[in-house]
Amino acid sequence: MAVKAKKIPVSVDKLTETQAKVELVRLVLEIERHNEAYYSEDAPKISDADYDALRQRSDAIEARFPGLVTRDSPSQKVGAAPSGRFAKVPHSVPMLSLGNAFSDEDVTDFVDRVRRFLKLADGDIPAIVAEPKIDGLSLSLRYEDGELVRGATRGDGFTGEDVTANVRTMSDIPHKLKGRNIPAVCEIRGEVYMLKKDFLALNKRQAEAEDTVFANPRNSAAGSLRQKDASITASRPLKFFAYAWGEMSAMPAKTQFKMIDWIGHAGFVTNPLITLCEDVEGLLKFYRKIETRRASLGYDIDGVVYKVDRLDWQERLGFVTRTPRWAIAHKFAAEQATTVLNDIEIQVGRTGALTPVAKLAPVTVGGVVVQNATLHNEDYIKGIGNDGQPIREGVDIRIGDTVVIQRAGDVIPQIVSVVVDKRPKTAKPYQFPTVCPACGSHAVREEDPKTGRPDSVRRCTNSLACPAQAKERLKHFVARNAFDIDGLGDKQIEEFFADGLVMSPVDIFTLQKRDARSQKRLADREGFGATSVRNLFAAIDARRTIALHRFIFALGIRHVGEGNAKLLARHYGTVEAFRAAMIAAGEGPQSEAYQDLNAIEGIGTVVANAIVEFFAEPHSVKAVDDLLGEIEVQPAERAKTDSPIAGKIVVFTGSLEKFTRDEAKATAERLGAKASGSVSKKTDYVVAGPGAGSKLAEANKLGVKVLTEDEWLALVSGA
Ligand code: IVH
Repeated sequence: MAVKAKKIPVSVDKLTETQAKVELVRLVLEIERHNEAYYSEDAPKISDADYDALRQRSDAIEARFPGLVTRDSPSQKVGAAPSGRFAKVPHSVPMLSLGNAFSDEDVTDFVDRVRRFLKLADGDIPAIVAEPKIDGLSLSLRYEDGELVRGATRGDGFTGEDVTANVRTMSDIPHKLKGRNIPAVCEIRGEVYMLKKDFLALNKRQAEAEDTVFANPRNSAAGSLRQKDASITASRPLKFFAYAWGEMSAMPAKTQFKMIDWIGHAGFVTNPLITLCEDVEGLLKFYRKIETRRASLGYDIDGVVYKVDRLDWQERLGFVTRTPRWAIAHKFAAEQATTVLNDIEIQVGRTGALTPVAKLAPVTVGGVVVQNATLHNEDYIKGIGNDGQPIREGVDIRIGDTVVIQRAGDVIPQIVSVVVDKRPKTAKPYQFPTVCPACGSHAVREEDPKTGRPDSVRRCTNSLACPAQAKERLKHFVARNAFDIDGLGDKQIEEFFADGLVMSPVDIFTLQKRDARSQKRLADREGFGATSVRNLFAAIDARRTIALHRFIFALGIRHVGEGNAKLLARHYGTVEAFRAAMIAAGEGPQSEAYQDLNAIEGIGTVVANAIVEFFAEPHSVKAVDDLLGEIEVQPAERAKTDSPIAGKIVVFTGSLEKFTRDEAKATAERLGAKASGSVSKKTDYVVAGPGAGSKLAEANKLGVKVLTEDEWLALVSGA
C-alpha cells in the first residue's frame, strides 16, 4: 500500500523573504478559515494541535521577518474576521474616468475650455500637471489614522471589489503612512501595473506550469490582483503608481503637484516623470518626449494625462457625467498593420442603423489579433467624410483591397488607408444595400435637419418588426449599465431570441414561470445545466427592483444614453411621472409637458423628440407597461430637495464676474434648482451681474427677487 508522505516544510530559518511572504499569506488565510470554523461555525475542521502548529509556524516566520507582520496577521487579532474577500465596496468619492484628446488641437481646446469656464484673464496661466497614463487597473486605498484599512478596485466607478487582502501583499503599498499631519481619513488612488519584463517572465513560468498565460501586462496585472487566494497575488510582481486621491478628511496641499509630492513622502511610489507645465506648448512638448521614450519605459503606457494644478480650480471645474472638466487623457497614435479585406458584412443596430463591418484576414496589431474593423457608414466606404469632404484622398474601399488598419487602445480597429497599387483588377466599388438585410424593409438615409444633407447613417425603417433591432434592443436592455443581468449576455440573448423564448424585455421576467411549464426545459439545453439555470433565475430576480435611471437607459431610446437617463430620472423622480409626462408631451411642442421636457438642462430638441416618438408608439408603451407589471422601479435620488434653492427657478443675467454661467447653472442644478433663460412670473431669483439689462428690468417689473453674485454665493455656500 502506498503511504502518502507528509510534506515536511522548509525550516523557517532557511526561507527567503519572498518565500516567507508567500507562505505567510497562505497561513494567514488558512488560520482565518479555521478561526471562522471554530469561532463562527462552532465546527472546527482540524485538531487543536494542528491548529497550534499553524499558529506557531506563522509566529516563527513573523519573528524572523517582522516587516511582514500585517493587521491581518493572526498574532494581531482575536477570533474570526469576516472573510469579506471580493465583497462590494461603495466608493465614497466615485472613481471616474477621463475624456480623451487625440490631437494637438484637442489639447488646445481642452485648455481653452478650462480658461473659459474659469473666466481667466489673458495673463492668467492655468498651470497644468502632465504625467504618463499608465496602462494598468486603478485601485483605491483607504487609510484611517494612517493605517491601511481597505483596498478596492474601481469596479463600475461607484462600487468596487474589496481586494484588501491582496493589496496587503504588494510591496509598493505601505501598510502605514509615513510622516506627521496625516489626515484621519485618506484615500490614495493610482494604477496597479506590471513591468514588461516581469510580465514576460511570469508568462514563461505560467506556460511551463501549463497555467493561464496572459495577453499583455495589463491583463496580467488585473488577473494577478483579482485572485481569491491572496498568496497567489503575493507571488506576482505587481507594482503601483499613486496619482490621485478620493475621500480626504483634510487636504495636505493646495495643488495637484504638491499633493503628488506629499503622497510620495507618505510612502508611495509616484511617477518620476510628472511635470508641471505652463502652457499648451509645454504639454505638447511633454507628450512628444514621453512618446519617444515609450518603448524604453519598462511599463506600458497608452498616453499622457493633463490635470489642472490648482485644486480650488479643479473643484470649480467639476465633472460632466463621468469625466472631469479639469483633466484629460492625450492618447498616443494607434498602432498600424496591413491586411486584406475579405468581405463586408452589414450589422443592424438597435436603432436600425446599418453598420458595415470589414471582415479582415487576421492580423496582429499591438499584440492583439484583429479580424474585424468598423467601416462606419456608406460614405466612409466611398471615401467621403461626415462633412462631405474626401477622406483617404477620396479612395473608396473594395472587397479584395489591401488595407492599413489601426487600433488605439480599446477602440474598435479602423481602416486608415487603402494600398491602391495592390487592388485586384476584378475589385468593384461596393454597393451598399438599400434594404435591411435582417427584415427586407427599406433602409433609408434621413435628412439631417442641421446640414440639409442625407444623414451618414442608413436605417432600417421597420423598427417594430425588424428582428435584428428587437434582438439588439434586448442585448442593450440586459447590458451592464442597464439591467445588468448576470448570465444573460449577448450569446444567451441570441439563442433565446432565435428559439422564441425571449422576444421582448418582459419575457425575461416571465422566463422562469414559462420554463416551469415547458416540455423543453432550459436546464436541458446545451451549455446550461441546473446550476446555471438556477443562477440565471436568481440574477433575473435580483433585478426585479431597479433604479429609475437604469430603467430609462435600458429602454434603448435613440439619443438617451446614461447621462440623459440620469437627467430624466432626476427630473421626473418616478417611473409613473416619467411615463405620464412623455405621453402627454406627445400632444405637441406647445404642450406644457413637452415644454417642461425640453427645458431640462442638457435635454435638447433632438433628444426630446426621440423620447416623444418612442412613447407615441403604442407598441413601446405596451412593452413598458408589460414590464412594469413584473418589476418595481425605484424612485430616483432626486436633485437635492433640502437645499435653500431646491425647486426654485433661477435666471442668471449680466456679465458674471465671480463665476461663469455654466458653472452657476451646474451649481443650481446640483442643488435641485432649475436654471432658466428667461424671466417670468414663475422665476424665483434673478442673479444679476454688472451690465444686466432687460431681464433685470423684467424682474423688477414682476417683483422677482434680484440677487447680486455675492448674495447668490452666500445662498448656495454650504448647501
Ligand atoms: S487620473 C477623475 N492619472 O486612466 C479621473 N488616471 O481613463 C482620475 N490612469 O480610470 C484619473 N494613468 O485607471 C489618472 N496618471 C493617471 C493615470 C490614470 C492611468 C487610468 C485610470 C483611470 C483611467 C481613465
